[in-house]
Amino acid sequence: MVQALEPEPRVYGLLRRASGVAAHLLCLGFTVFVAVLARPGTSLFSWHPFLMTLSFSFLMTEALLLFSPDCSPLQHFSHKVKGRYHWILQSLSASCAVLGLVVIFYNKQLNNKSHFVTWHGLVGLLTVLYAVLQSLGGVSLLYPKLVKRWSLSKLKRYHATSGLLAYLLGCTSLLLGMCSLWFTTAVHSLGWYLASSCPALTGLVLMNQVTNAYVARKRF
Ligand code: HEM
Repeated sequence: MVQALEPEPRVYGLLRRASGVAAHLLCLGFTVFVAVLARPGTSLFSWHPFLMTLSFSFLMTEALLLFSPDCSPLQHFSHKVKGRYHWILQSLSASCAVLGLVVIFYNKQLNNKSHFVTWHGLVGLLTVLYAVLQSLGGVSLLYPKLVKRWSLSKLKRYHATSGLLAYLLGCTSLLLGMCSLWFTTAVHSLGWYLASSCPALTGLVLMNQVTNAYVARKRF
């Protein structure tokens, strides 16, 4: 006998909506906070935290929230339109990330410092490389005929799962960046915990969004 599915309690929908709105506010608030702290333009280094936060906290979060069924700014638009804005935001995000990496590399070169010697530097390098590859992989969704081995739905699922990993790597790099001397000298105690909760919370919201849309639904 087929059992009827129970309707979802209303409070779940409300909670998902509230956490989606919180993710919009946190990613914007955190980016503004780091911009105020770094004051981009005052030194070469100042561009690094600014560009990285703009890339991974603001642009990438917004590019993913576009697909949220609960809090997308393009809620009433077709999936095709959301997809178009998604790849535009992701291209901007990847460009900022590459620029942020070039800036910090060049800055260290000028100061005769060794490269990729901290956890932040190592995970950060991996994150940028992965994010660029992920963006290039997204081209296969624009031109699915290029990849004949996989169906479009399979491609979408792989892209979403691997994209979530790229996003979580970004959150980890942001958190590790916040453990740097530069950040901990300026922000400490409760301020540090509040700041670090931003990428942690947006990471949780997007993990829930992507797993609900692809991974959990497919298994069910
Ligand atoms: C997802 C975002 C980020 C990525 C992918 C990233 C990536 C990197 C990489 C690859 C390096 C090493 C460059 C080299 O050794 O030549 C580096 C250095 C650095 N980053 Fe970031 N970064 C990010 C965000 C941040 C943020 C938000 C801050 C500050 C709050 C920050 C502060 C620093 C500092 C102080 C260094 C120099 C010290 C070190 O090498 O660890 N970064 N970053």
